[in-house]
Amino acid sequence: MRPLDRFVRIVYLLGHTSGDAMTPTDTPESSGNESKPYKRRPRYAGTHPKRYEDKYKEHDIESHPDMAAHLRAKGITPAGSHVSVLVEEALACLRPGPGEIVVDGTLGHGGHARRFLEALGPSGRLIGLDVDGVQLERTGRRLTAEYPNVSLHRGNFAGIAGVLGKEGLSACDIIFVDLGISSMQIDDPQRGMSYKHDGPLDMRMDDRLKRTAANLLAALTEREIAEALRDLADEPDHAAIARRIVAERAIRPITRTVQLVDLVFEVRGLTRQVWRHQQRSSKSPPPHPAARTFQALRMLVNDELGCLRELLRIAPYCLRPGGRIGVISFHSGEDRLVKQSFREGLHTGVYESAAEDPITPTHEERRQNPRSAPAKLRWAAKPQTSDHRPCARGRRTSTGRQSLTDTRWLAALVHHAAVDGVDTSSDTCGDYQRMYRRLGCNDAADGVE
Ligand SMILES: C[S@@+](CC[C@H](N)C(=O)[O-])C[C@H]1O[C@@H](n2cnc3c(N)ncnc32)[C@H](O)[C@@H]1O
Repeated sequence: MRPLDRFVRIVYLLGHTSGDAMTPTDTPESSGNESKPYKRRPRYAGTHPKRYEDKYKEHDIESHPDMAAHLRAKGITPAGSHVSVLVEEALACLRPGPGEIVVDGTLGHGGHARRFLEALGPSGRLIGLDVDGVQLERTGRRLTAEYPNVSLHRGNFAGIAGVLGKEGLSACDIIFVDLGISSMQIDDPQRGMSYKHDGPLDMRMDDRLKRTAANLLAALTEREIAEALRDLADEPDHAAIARRIVAERAIRPITRTVQLVDLVFEVRGLTRQVWRHQQRSSKSPPPHPAARTFQALRMLVNDELGCLRELLRIAPYCLRPGGRIGVISFHSGEDRLVKQSFREGLHTGVYESAAEDPITPTHEERRQNPRSAPAKLRWAAKPQTSDHRPCARGRRTSTGRQSLTDTRWLAALVHHAAVDGVDTSSDTCGDYQRMYRRLGCNDAADGVE
């Protein structure tokens, strides 16, 4: 036997005797499923897989319940899955009932959706939306196999009116969104969303979007970058980080996550070694130095605040009388928008009741799932009878010039979106005026402020 062959054989045998690194089901002889073509597990160094793509058991966690329990006990979310947050709390305040229609605007791994479906029963209906095609496909396959009353749309929740139109509905009973990204998206290095792994600086939830984070870093001015870091993530070193990014891109393009992390470390005067030491020696370790930079960029790439603003503006018109909306946010900027919108809705009578304070995860939930820590849930409910008028910015006008009920207004809107393929997420009054005139609703057009 040649030395190289001997070495390969030793590595192979070690693999077979090192516990977790190889299981009986990995061998072709013992697969027990003759119809499935044999697929060898990924090779990795050491006894445990460290890279995302090597964690093959975690990617199929339903088949490895022991592994799921083991990781959850350690507060770790298995790769390729997502632990839903504030589930019981969301159900308690949104109260889904048999026969109702729920729009889950952020389907993700389908954790909340599944619980809604259980409460809706066979006569209810769940409409699931996600901008991430991969996610939607994977979750959709699991949910539709179990529940016939699910329909799925790849789309942005800002376009909820158009989706209702496609479903032949003018309104629904519950709108629910669990903002931000899923653990699957954070953990996959190819999505470029995490400072923890090296990967392309992409950050798009929806791969149909034209601009990645790398494109934005190449195109924005120093001032625009600094403002984004300040406004979207309260980054205290926003000016210095923006300056460093602009200096670096003059030398070479910033296309990898690790490059961006290095730049932030430099600005902070930190090395990775010092940072690791700080983390280990502190009882409550500070957030990662690049966490805010990554958050701001991701929110910018996906226009996360813009989408939320649009949803909050249009939601009252997409809810039936007595309808409820629930929003889970993970960032103070998002929570502020939700709080303001619900408060304004209470003031104008669009909503009858709303959460006074945000609902946050219990100590136990945070221990089991540390990623739940920043979550805040707010809800609002419409009165049982309501007659709200259309308005370009979602406010009831005092002019009294508008005469459509919200149902008729919504019907007009969804018709326009579904039949004419018009983007109803537009925020300009001119677009609304044109739309109403086209639909022959001149009184509504005149009333648009
Ligand atoms: C936090 S996860 C949702 C997890 C889900 N509630 C669960 O229990 O598994 C957020 C999901 O919403 C999607 N998403 C984020 N913003 C969106 C938007 N504006 N429109 C539609 N989907 C969105 C993301 O792609 C991601 O899959």
